[in-house]
Amino acid sequence: EKGGYKHFMAKEIAEQPVVLADALRHYLPKSGLNMPDELDFSNIDRIILIACGTAHYACAVAKYWFEEFARIPCEIDVASEFRYREPPLSARSLAIFVSQSGETADTLAALRYCAENVAKTVAVVNVPSSSIAREADIALPILAGIEVGVASTKAFTAQLLVLAVMALKAGRDRGQIDDEILSAHTEALRSLPGLLNQAMSLSEPIAKLAESLAEAQDILFLGRGPMYPLALEGALKLKEISYIHAEGYASGELKHGPIALIDRSVPVIVMAPHDRLFDKTVSNMQEVMARHGMVLLASDAKGLQIAGDGTWAQIQLPEIAEPFAPILYAVPAQLLAYHTAVAKGTDVDQPRNLAKSVTVE
Ligand code: F6R
Repeated sequence: EKGGYKHFMAKEIAEQPVVLADALRHYLPKSGLNMPDELDFSNIDRIILIACGTAHYACAVAKYWFEEFARIPCEIDVASEFRYREPPLSARSLAIFVSQSGETADTLAALRYCAENVAKTVAVVNVPSSSIAREADIALPILAGIEVGVASTKAFTAQLLVLAVMALKAGRDRGQIDDEILSAHTEALRSLPGLLNQAMSLSEPIAKLAESLAEAQDILFLGRGPMYPLALEGALKLKEISYIHAEGYASGELKHGPIALIDRSVPVIVMAPHDRLFDKTVSNMQEVMARHGMVLLASDAKGLQIAGDGTWAQIQLPEIAEPFAPILYAVPAQLLAYHTAVAKGTDVDQPRNLAKSVTVE
């Protein structure tokens, strides 16, 4: 059942190249985007993305995609806030609910609040027979297979893939994306299984770094653009299973407070592919190094060459099209959490106080 792995989480991390290849075969067959016809973005003027936990961070990444590819205003919220805030809704909004289990109580309540009051409700779920899948107007399965580890891994990257294809469809429906860019993006998505496979080879070197990380009291994760929500996800994963206090920040927020935390004992994990905003992230990173923070830079060859000097450690990822970097960098984020927890000897698959499916508030 664990297929030779020590933990379900390790198995589920390693399954991601295959999971994404399956989801790609379904949603991006050779003939193009495969999304239901009734999922039509042409008359939508707003997208609302609602979820909890890791699924919420998948929504937070997708916001960048919907805004960039389709130029639709896009709002994200955690389900527990959204449902009790009872925000005004509009008939031309499309509401998307993301949930691995499809049973999360707050997400289900948020869906019920939106039903009848928005143009369409869409569920992005792993369990097709779940309440959220049944109650939404349209259900899109992420096709990740059963996820046993309490910390979500393969469901996260599969959610991202489905949301990425949706955002491309939204861009096409609205005439915001030309054929050339669309095909470049679909090619980039098709390259993900191979790239994630390469990223799996980082498991051993990351296990070595994790021995030092396991000693830390606090760990910060930094990211910019679509990598910002991935920094939040990296911190969540780490705290869930290693019980080390971790926080994610937008790199540009560092000087607005969290930099006060930096000293020699605080590892700062910078998730930064060599993208448009790389230089800005590097200057944030240098501010950390000037205060003797232990910087772990995860980047591509180019990024490491430009900015690797003076860092405590480096993780090299293959190059990837800028918008989709969070899908690839999810793997080292998960491996960092996993190996740190293993080094600490915590219960990786059944972390204390957590349940796989949160069906009560
Ligand atoms: C984190 C984690 C949780 C879930 C959250 C939502 O690793 O697993 O944060 O993501 O409880 O669960 P679903 O996706 O089932 O609605």
